[in-house]
Amino acid sequence: MQLTVDTSWWTRYRSRTQNPDFGDTFPPAIPGLLKGQFPAIPRSDADLAPANHIQAIANTAGFHFGFIEQGGSSLYPTLAQGATNLEVLRVLLSIGQVETSHFQTWHDKAGNAPALTDPTNGLVFPDLNAPPFGGEDFQTNLIMPEPTIFLSRSLPAVSIIRPTQIAGSGGAVATVKAWTADGLFIGQSPEFFTVLQQLAEQADAARRGF
Ligand SMILES: [Fe+2]
Repeated sequence: MQLTVDTSWWTRYRSRTQNPDFGDTFPPAIPGLLKGQFPAIPRSDADLAPANHIQAIANTAGFHFGFIEQGGSSLYPTLAQGATNLEVLRVLLSIGQVETSHFQTWHDKAGNAPALTDPTNGLVFPDLNAPPFGGEDFQTNLIMPEPTIFLSRSLPAVSIIRPTQIAGSGGAVATVKAWTADGLFIGQSPEFFTVLQQLAEQADAARRGF
């Protein structure tokens, strides 16, 4: 009900020259979603009108789901690199692949979000297919990850999940930080955050043994 959604995943997966594992950063597709707290579900019947308000709520949900699922798409392959036990690896690969299928679906859904301004709070969803947006960085029917740099800048571009560097921006601690900034955990207890942070640190500390 109070989300601050980072939509830089949209431009990250369209970049053919940059990768967060190389320190690159990406502009958000919907800058307004970073400038406040917005509902992604109607909080009461009052949220059902006017039309562009309830549509903005649906648009926010579309981009929020994409944000969560791209996080999962990076988290599992990142953790898999630290797994020693084959059953743990099986769990990570089996769930992680499904997160990526979720991501692709929500990426497609978010692309259907109509351009509008929410008259109740001024939140703008721009037309991502028109200047100054549009082109390969924003075009809404482009939902396959663009090939980009991977492992070394000297190698040819390849279509990959990004980031996946161990304990990098796709790691467990980074994911908890991003999802907390998103507002996903608003209202949780201090104990919740303590346990979550501890689990994430332990997960990022795991290294593959032989
Ligand atoms: Fe998922």
